[in-house]
Amino acid sequence: MTTKHDNILGTVGNTPVVRINHLAPDGVNLYVKCEYFNPLSSVKDRLALGVIEAAEKAGALKPGQTVIEATSGNTGIGLAMVCAAKGYPLVLTMAESFSVERRKLMRFLGAKVILTPAPKKGTGMVEKAKELAEKHGWFMTRQFENEANPAMHERTTGREIMDAFKGEKLDYWVTGFGTGGTLTGVSRVLKKESPDTKIVVCEPPDAAMLASGAPQERNADGSPAASHPAWTPHPIQGWSPDFIPKITAEAVDAGVIDQIVKTPHDVGIKWSRDLAQKEGVFTGISGGSTFAGAMAVAKDAPKGTTILCMLPDTGERYLSTPLFGDVEAEMSTDEIEITTSTPGFQLG
Ligand SMILES: Cc1ncc(COP(=O)(O)O)c(C=O)c1O
Repeated sequence: MTTKHDNILGTVGNTPVVRINHLAPDGVNLYVKCEYFNPLSSVKDRLALGVIEAAEKAGALKPGQTVIEATSGNTGIGLAMVCAAKGYPLVLTMAESFSVERRKLMRFLGAKVILTPAPKKGTGMVEKAKELAEKHGWFMTRQFENEANPAMHERTTGREIMDAFKGEKLDYWVTGFGTGGTLTGVSRVLKKESPDTKIVVCEPPDAAMLASGAPQERNADGSPAASHPAWTPHPIQGWSPDFIPKITAEAVDAGVIDQIVKTPHDVGIKWSRDLAQKEGVFTGISGGSTFAGAMAVAKDAPKGTTILCMLPDTGERYLSTPLFGDVEAEMSTDEIEITTSTPGFQLG
């Protein structure tokens, strides 16, 4: 059915849940929730719309006021869409280590992008955004602590999951975390309405902050005082910043996380490629890494187990990253062979 919308923002959310047919172990019902069906191809479109609409409602954001945020990319791209549709100027701060196509996309959507030094990590870009917001009286969306972020996931992502599995049991829900908006918002719904669903959180082994059990050192105002001791730089963009965000801490403190799986990025890249080539499901490194976690759960699960895995964004956002590292632009020997092949030739 064709849907008609007043503007692009009406297309945020309601992403499909898709069955995995070839990669799932026999007897395990494995599904993915494809967040790349959002208009700007990531789960962060939800957060962007949620925080802007909440600020408008509260009167914290005035017509025409500049919006600012610190973002590793997808939030900035989502915010750029929302601000373009609603007429707010947008400034984004971003560590220079994140992929070039993300910066270009944000600029194409009309945002100004301020790069911050890679060694200053996630905290560096947040500090820069705070400094500019204070200096100019801009509205900072504060994705890592804004209650409107998990609230949006509670209202949309969580509801959609309940609807998709109505009348069916859902044994495991698997996610990673960036701000923790997805984790905390969806957990609120699952714990209330589907308490038997186990919540599995994936994180990189080189930044296993949750698995370490160590608390985040904080300033008096609740902001992170320094990088978490278990964190080291890792290549899974969008996952595990160098601190445990306040929103993620809510889920940790509430004890809703049933299992933590450490998923290395190279394993995630392999699964991302397998999802693309064996299922036609096209997701980024974090999606492949979350799927690695779901497959780890599936491997030991009894027949009849149902698992849902979040896929946060599209693989197309990673053209300049190791996800596409061994994909050549030139023709391979196999491809050259096709040009000279004789009748009866079959692709291997
Ligand atoms: C690329 C990407 N974006 C967003 C998210 C989730 O974001 P959040 O925890 O902020 O809801 C993830 C985490 O899985 C991610 O990998």
